[in-house]
Amino acid sequence: MISKNNWPIEKGRKGLSVWRLNRILSIIHERAKKLTVTDREIPIVWSEMHMYTTMQLAKLVAMQRGLNPELAGLVCAFHDIYTLLTGAHKDHGLLAKQYIVEIITEYNENTRDELSPITDDEQQCIIESVKVHSDKQTVEENAYAELLKDVDSLDSYLAGFTPGRRSGRMPRINSLFTSLNIDHTVE
Ligand SMILES: [Fe+2]
Repeated sequence: MISKNNWPIEKGRKGLSVWRLNRILSIIHERAKKLTVTDREIPIVWSEMHMYTTMQLAKLVAMQRGLNPELAGLVCAFHDIYTLLTGAHKDHGLLAKQYIVEIITEYNENTRDELSPITDDEQQCIIESVKVHSDKQTVEENAYAELLKDVDSLDSYLAGFTPGRRSGRMPRINSLFTSLNIDHTVE
């Protein structure tokens, strides 16, 4: 079970403990570089950009909410992994599990001596959050799933997409702006 505030800071390192996340991003980037499919619903440049920008926003929102910034970043880095690696959008949250498990396994098998593993609980939190992220109207018990829905909505807005009135995205974006003390309303 993922609890809220019990995340240890990595000993011996200064700064934010996000080195596991950085390594995961490089594994994902290596996979993305090898893709040859040109017939994609979503262009690869958009998928990669959205991965990085939601991941950075996630860290800030996690800090504000007392959540672990690295785990929030991992959730967001993985959230559209199916679309990034296949080009397909339909059911991409539901279908992401295979890629999440594959990439985390690759990470855990190759970084044993340098970095901590990504635990089963963390992997489960990522899978569960990604699975439900397309439904922006439902409020989740899992704080990381909620953070993903909020940050995904905000990032798409910042990229110029207008949220649909009934998509559930608009109230999420507005409440993020309020909580960040930014005087801006999406209407
Ligand atoms: Fe998505």
